Amino acid sequence: MPKYPQTRMRRNRQTAWSRRLTRENSLSVDDLIWPCFVIEGNNRRQAVDSMPGVERLSLDLLLEAALEARDLGIPALAVFPVIDAQHKDRDGSLAADPDNLICRAVEALKAKIPDLGIICDVALDPFTSNGQDGIVREGRVLNDATIKALCVQARVQAEAGCDILAPSDMMDGRIGAIRQHLDDAGLHDKQILSYAAKYASSFYGPFRDAVGSKGALGEADKRTYQQDPGNGDEALREVALDIDEGADMVMIKPGMPYLDVLWRVKSTFKMPTFAYQVSGEYAMLMAASERGWLDEEQVMMESLLAFKRAGADAVLTYAAIDVARRLASNR
Ligand code: PBG
Repeated sequence: MPKYPQTRMRRNRQTAWSRRLTRENSLSVDDLIWPCFVIEGNNRRQAVDSMPGVERLSLDLLLEAALEARDLGIPALAVFPVIDAQHKDRDGSLAADPDNLICRAVEALKAKIPDLGIICDVALDPFTSNGQDGIVREGRVLNDATIKALCVQARVQAEAGCDILAPSDMMDGRIGAIRQHLDDAGLHDKQILSYAAKYASSFYGPFRDAVGSKGALGEADKRTYQQDPGNGDEALREVALDIDEGADMVMIKPGMPYLDVLWRVKSTFKMPTFAYQVSGEYAMLMAASERGWLDEEQVMMESLLAFKRAGADAVLTYAAIDVARRLASNR
């Protein structure tokens, strides 16, 4: 390879058109998944303090927002229910109720906007009074008892019309069990997006504010089931197991601090691989931008492009609607 001065890397960067021609990765609206929060009631919107620009919406308002998302070309939404504290219990039993908030939201969304993909978490934390993702006995999160509850939760959500079930709980063996349970119920076309490598991260704080599981969780944490942030090889084992158990797509979470994991997973398994730009990542970009320390539009687009470069096929981002609008106006 010739070296400088024959080779000048800056030659291709001289003009905007040349930079566009030589750009290896790009972000399109097809890459976006919008995570959103649904609350009970009518015509209600609540700001989430730690997530500037994010609102919990009652179903009627969520339907309007979802229509806009679809019209902008966003392929899918990930819907999270905010459950009133009085309806939570130790085992999160409301998760199994086909008339619960998330199931009603899914039914309404699919009825009004059938061509918009709907993703639901499979995990008990929005419903448990202790904020844990599973069933707790004597201070331990029980793996196999939790899986049984997750199977039922996945099925009622699927029966409500959810297209993609996304287990976010990190119990061992849940992907295979949920796949089997769905198949037994004749729901073999429902996709499974595994939160395959999900870390015990402090970047989830604002999300736990948004769904009200933070107070419930208190001083407790999720380190006995979510992964240790120091581990990379372990993520490959987690992903391999979930693929083996029947996951159709896998996710890495959080996103930006774990781009190495994303890259390794995508290059090893070549599966549809998604990244979650989690609440804390969103909050830091937005908070610094509010102070004038960062340019929100620029850093958001750059960080989403970085996910693409690192191998993501799609990104869950709370900024999806804004980003889709920007992508549409840049055309
Ligand atoms: C629930 C769940 C969490 C997130 C998505 N699903 C929180 C957690 O595991 O405690 C986090 C999303 C975010 O921070 O944006 N299992």
